[in-house]
Amino acid sequence: MKKVITYGTFDTLHYGHILLFKRARALGDHLTVALSTDAFNARKDKAAHFSYDERAEFLRAITYVDAIIPENTWDQKRDDVVQHGIDVFTMGDDWAGEFDFLSDLCKVIYLPRTPRISSTAVRNIQSAAE
Ligand code: CTP
Repeated sequence: MKKVITYGTFDTLHYGHILLFKRARALGDHLTVALSTDAFNARKDKAAHFSYDERAEFLRAITYVDAIIPENTWDQKRDDVVQHGIDVFTMGDDWAGEFDFLSDLCKVIYLPRTPRISSTAVRNIQSAAE
């Protein structure tokens, strides 16, 4: 079985995230999503609207997602790849080049980001409507 992994916060789940999961899953037979924890987001200065448990609940409903693990630190990726037997590491191309250091362990693929949608844009629409 070919195993794929991707990382992110996936707040206010949107069309761009779904397309990322669909294309990531198509790179193999099993997709693990490493979901940033609230504590990790706080360290990244990234304030999510939804909590880890709420964001995980969204992901569990996505047919392309086979497993969810917590992303607690920047440095866990090598261990995750080894521990979960990952063949392909993938991220949107806003991260292009950032994770090439994993390429001795697995294939690293940057997928084109879906234009004109982001969690920030959704959060802005939401707060404008409040
Ligand atoms: N992503 C994507 N297309 C988008 C938005 C995100 O392919 N339009 C991808 C990112 O490249 C990343 C993953 O989804 O690999 C998770 O991104 P995340 O930062 O959680 O989503 P954003 O919408 O970019 O959130 P923010 O606006 O808070 O940066």
